[in-house]
Amino acid sequence: MAIKRQQRKEPSVQQAKTVKETEVFEQTLRPKHLAEYVGQSSIKEHLIVYIAAAKKRTESLGHTILHGPPGLGKTTLAHIIAKEMGSQMRTTSGPAIEKPGDLASLLTNLEEGDVLFIDEIHRMRPAIEEVLYSAMEDFALDLVIGKGPTARSMRLDLKPFTLVGATTKIGSVSAPLRDRFSHHFKLQFYNDIEMEQIVERTAGILDVTMDAGAARSVALSCRATPRIANRLVRSVRDFAQVQDETVVSKDRVLSTLKKLGIDNKGLDDTDRMILRTVIEKFGGGPVGVSTLAAATAEEIDTLEDVYEPYLMQCGYLHRTPKGRMVTKLAYELLS
Ligand SMILES: Nc1ncnc2c1ncn2[C@@H]1O[C@H](COP(=O)(O)OP(=O)(O)OP(=O)(O)O)[C@@H](O)[C@H]1O
Ligand SMILES: [Mg+2]
Repeated sequence: MAIKRQQRKEPSVQQAKTVKETEVFEQTLRPKHLAEYVGQSSIKEHLIVYIAAAKKRTESLGHTILHGPPGLGKTTLAHIIAKEMGSQMRTTSGPAIEKPGDLASLLTNLEEGDVLFIDEIHRMRPAIEEVLYSAMEDFALDLVIGKGPTARSMRLDLKPFTLVGATTKIGSVSAPLRDRFSHHFKLQFYNDIEMEQIVERTAGILDVTMDAGAARSVALSCRATPRIANRLVRSVRDFAQVQDETVVSKDRVLSTLKKLGIDNKGLDDTDRMILRTVIEKFGGGPVGVSTLAAATAEEIDTLEDVYEPYLMQCGYLHRTPKGRMVTKLAYELLS
């Protein structure tokens, strides 16, 4: 997942290959148009109106921020926005912009109506954020030329563009930056019917034939997250292929899930280990996130962004001002 990837140091050759393979795989599966994008119906309804209105006025779409847990479709939606607007998309990410000059050169190279996609926008440095404020508000760059008493400021006009920001941590995006986005969209976990559609879509693209029961079992086990659905379809296909099965059966799915340590709620070993740690070491909580991170040997960000959202969505975990607490459901799950 993006978060795990960015926290690693330099990837090894093997890791780099796997990351690249995953990216290529994701690109193949990425829906290209809003009509193909499953679920998130409220976001789609709004976008259809905003895009149509912007096109009618021959203006660029208002700046848009997409937030939600990893793998729910933020990057995919950013690409779709550009495509539906008939625009080019330029992509960067918060940590990749090192100096204000880097951002200035990105902005001055944008063509009218382009979409600038900044992934992990919460990781942008404050000095760089400030350059973005006037760019977002007035389509202008305020530059300071020279140093000391001879320094003077200069305003450079930019072509109108749309900034699309994505983040898994909306709370870490500063208020001044957040307020400059016209549209705020929170991506939700997908329901079972939507997940089944996504599994079937992925299976279709990968040329995998699945029993109806098989697709449903995958759909119920992927943490309501399309990226995980894609990964599971690929694993199930591999296990079936090795056994020379041309149609993936429900039994094949269940045996693959078992091998991968995924239970019928879609939880994996780490999910269960987190819940068990809160129960066994901290009496069910409350326990602070940093203590929990140390006890589980996970990064705080990984806990907060990758694991907790789904555990909370399922009602196994609560975030309280005093820390994390498990619920009765978690005790029942692990009993
Ligand atoms: N609504 C959707 N319909 C169909 N497939 C989807 C949808 N959303 C996401 N996907 C699939 O899930 C994959 C992962 O989505 P994406 O990369 O957009 O997630 P993300 O929210 O940007 O994750 P991260 O926070 O890790 O960057 C995509 O390659 C795509 O195949
Ligand atoms: Mg992304």
